[in-house]
Amino acid sequence: EKGGYDHFMMKEIYEQPRSIRDCLRGRIYPQQGKVQLGGIKEYTEKLKNVDRIIIVACGTSWHAGLVGEYLIEEYARVPVEVEYASEFRYRNPIITEKDLVIAISQSGETADTMAAIELAKEKGATIFGICNVVGASIPRLTHAGVYTHAGPEIGVASTKAFTAQVSVLTLIAFYIAQQRGKITQSKMVEYLTGLNEIPNLVQEALKLNEHIRQIAARFKDSTNCLFLGRGSSFPVALEGALKLKEISYIHAEGYPAAEMKHGPIALIDDEMPVVFIATKHSSYEKVISNIQEVKARKGHVIAIVSEGDTEVKGMADYVIEIPQTNEAFVPLVATIPLQLLAYHIAVMRGCNVDQPRNLAKSVTVE
Ligand code: F6R
Repeated sequence: EKGGYDHFMMKEIYEQPRSIRDCLRGRIYPQQGKVQLGGIKEYTEKLKNVDRIIIVACGTSWHAGLVGEYLIEEYARVPVEVEYASEFRYRNPIITEKDLVIAISQSGETADTMAAIELAKEKGATIFGICNVVGASIPRLTHAGVYTHAGPEIGVASTKAFTAQVSVLTLIAFYIAQQRGKITQSKMVEYLTGLNEIPNLVQEALKLNEHIRQIAARFKDSTNCLFLGRGSSFPVALEGALKLKEISYIHAEGYPAAEMKHGPIALIDDEMPVVFIATKHSSYEKVISNIQEVKARKGHVIAIVSEGDTEVKGMADYVIEIPQTNEAFVPLVATIPLQLLAYHIAVMRGCNVDQPRNLAKSVTVE
């Protein structure tokens, strides 16, 4: 049932071109520049008028929420806050019937996320869910929602559910942008055409597997690893670090690249691998100076770059070239090599990648 792969995690990583396509199916009409989300259609008026969106989630789903924050603020121009469900509920949050809360959960059973939803509901907020498991508890607690349609995820480390969550948040961002008149029709056509290509670009990115396996062999005995990115690549860095730590037990941390000089730079020496997401987008030049800072301290740089990049190639120890895409969709493509890197390192260390120690697929206790 692993479809010829050694582990469910690998099978699920390789399913992503299909799972993302399934998630987009019937929801985007690129030629018409239109997004359709049946599950939240009734709440279109709410989306036109809402002043603030609060996203609640845990773990990988929280990382997807951070990508969502970036996309919704950038394209729909609605303020977004992203909260750990567990923190949200225990600090008497200011929330009213005017707010829209979006709960993200693969399993739809996470206790902390459910408790956050119940609290927000008591205060009168409108609640949307972004869930994978159809008919789970969270979709039943929410007023409306959008399923991710990634199919069953068996590996404990979330992979295809993450990219499906990010896909749904991308759809929501462009749906709100359209409803609120924040984007022209021709721009919509352009963005949705780009989004429609993502499954193919993810397919391309999967061809990097062998190259990444070789990089993994070089770093499998590391004890620490940093992941750095900016903008929407910052949550991708967090997700890359979480994948590595949970399945390989290597201590890994994600940071916004510019924060490095405020502390983590002290950790860099000739033993430290630093993974950068350095695609050719808004903060490219800034990330390049961060790469130089790491190299000046003899750190080992593994850089995820846009295909055809030459500048980073001259400084990084290893480059991983991913297909070019619009900045809005970088998280969907840049995540793939990080999943593969974590997977290969964990396998080489003899870890049980599908069932890492101390972890459960759904956390139904607080
Ligand atoms: C990471 C992972 C966990 C979950 C978290 C939330 O790979 O699997 O961090 O993302 O426990 O779970 P859901 O999304 O089911 O609410």
